[in-house]
Amino acid sequence: AYVVTDNCIRCKFMDCVAVCPVDCFYEGENMLVINPDECIDCGVCEPECPAAAIAADTAPEAGPWIALNAQYAALWPNIAEKKEPPADAAQWMDVADKFESAFS
Ligand code: SF4
Ligand code: F3S
Repeated sequence: AYVVTDNCIRCKFMDCVAVCPVDCFYEGENMLVINPDECIDCGVCEPECPAAAIAADTAPEAGPWIALNAQYAALWPNIAEKKEPPADAAQWMDVADKFESAFS
């Protein structure tokens, strides 16, 4: 499956949602995750993310995010349509260590 990584935090552009053929994104307050049981590995979402936040679960940067995507996909509501990104989304692009601010 593909996974959403920390680059999504507080960016949440949701271009990924618009292209996913199986609607397997789930929405938290600050980021999205992918349900690994529903993702069909089509790879369509990966190049669509302006923040380069999506990776295959075989990619090195996916490591810690694999379990987190599975965990939160079970808790958060499904999102099938793109909404307005946060007003300050662009400011959060390329910020490091966003995990702390989103999950603490
Ligand atoms: Fe959806 Fe395909 Fe991305 Fe999986 S890889 S989340 S099925 S668009
Ligand atoms: Fe996040 Fe990128 Fe989708 S910032 S919401 S993974 S388009």
